[in-house]
Amino acid sequence: MAAESGDKWILTVTAQTPTNIAVIKYWGKRHEELILPINDSISVTLDPDHLCTTTSVAVSPAFTHDRMWLNGKEVSLSGDRFQNCLRELRSRASDVEDEKKGIKISKKDWEKLRLHIVSFNNFPTAAGLASSAAGLACLVFSLANLMNVKEDHSKLSAIARQGSGSACRSLFGGFAKWIMGKEENGSDSIAVQLADEKHWDDLVIIIAVVSSRQKETSSTSGMRDTVETSMLLQHRAKEVVPKRVKQMEEAIEKRDFPSFARLACADSNQFHAVCLDTLPPIFYMNDTSHKIISCVEKWNRHEGTPQVAYTFDAGPNAVLISHNRKTAALLLQRLLFLFPPQSDTDLDSYVIGDKTILKDAGIHEMKDVEALAPPPELKENAPTRNKGDVSYFICTRPGRGPVVLNDESRSLINSETGLPK
Ligand code: DP6
Repeated sequence: MAAESGDKWILTVTAQTPTNIAVIKYWGKRHEELILPINDSISVTLDPDHLCTTTSVAVSPAFTHDRMWLNGKEVSLSGDRFQNCLRELRSRASDVEDEKKGIKISKKDWEKLRLHIVSFNNFPTAAGLASSAAGLACLVFSLANLMNVKEDHSKLSAIARQGSGSACRSLFGGFAKWIMGKEENGSDSIAVQLADEKHWDDLVIIIAVVSSRQKETSSTSGMRDTVETSMLLQHRAKEVVPKRVKQMEEAIEKRDFPSFARLACADSNQFHAVCLDTLPPIFYMNDTSHKIISCVEKWNRHEGTPQVAYTFDAGPNAVLISHNRKTAALLLQRLLFLFPPQSDTDLDSYVIGDKTILKDAGIHEMKDVEALAPPPELKENAPTRNKGDVSYFICTRPGRGPVVLNDESRSLINSETGLPK
């Protein structure tokens, strides 16, 4: 560990990693500690401009122990999952030399050197939007860069997997598949990219962040209970998912939206069905989620072919994937008709992300929302408008994979103190 500037030096790396939404769900492990799943899963990576984690990592001989700060608060790194990721990364670290700063770290030094990790989500953690996937993927990706780990993204995905299963898919942009693998040690349970974000770039994604007071069952404990008690899960993993994964890969390859939508909706519904088949049953969706499903189902039926796909993870938020900008604008009109903002909320904070969809929908100010007419497929039923059921909407699209941010001003770590800025 030679450093001409004494023991004062600090070396940092900052990276940004996207979150992802599964369209064929991972639910159930065959190995708890290694986080090995009982079926393959497929996801869409969401545009990091709207949903991502930024993580800065630092190493210095002056650090006395590994420390981490998440969204401004120090958190413990003592959990097995963090420890497993850190151990795997340290064992793969290589020599690092920064001539400008006069820093030389040799491979074996990494076992002794301590790390500081500072991480921020650009979306509220409380919204329940798969923050662990982006967070763990970013931790692994940024440390792999700092430690000069010479492995490809799939190999890194197997490390991120040990932090949180769904995190392994966040190492790729566009569309990713987590292959369950067969090996007992998990070496072949990795993510691969099916297609990059440019492959199908007319898709538009609208997320409805649904208001909820309920504390949800964590994915980890929920899926453990499902594995122990649900017979339907065995059927799903053995018979249903293997066929669906093939069909979904084909739908993505051919940009076949009707097949993509049918498969994604069916798989989300079956995931929630296995949750209901768990003892005690797990309810992740609420009345608002059900209203959104019904709105999309009626519209798709009315048009005779799917316009929009819905999918829900372990919570009530809806992720709605529309075929193109035109259907996204029509979807947003429907959503704002059914779920207008509360009187004290302004439109600007009610629809966030890519606001151009709002313009396409012809909605410029609050009075345009008030003036929305019921969509034709709902007209007969005199639909009610449910103010306050949705907290806000995020308009986004499929996005890129992890990137290193070289601009020093983006670092979350003070390069003098090694502490959060
Ligand atoms: C419903 O990856 O959060 O989002 O592996 O225990 O950390 P652990 O669980 P996690 O589970 C995600 C479940 C899901 C479906 C999915 O993302 O495939």
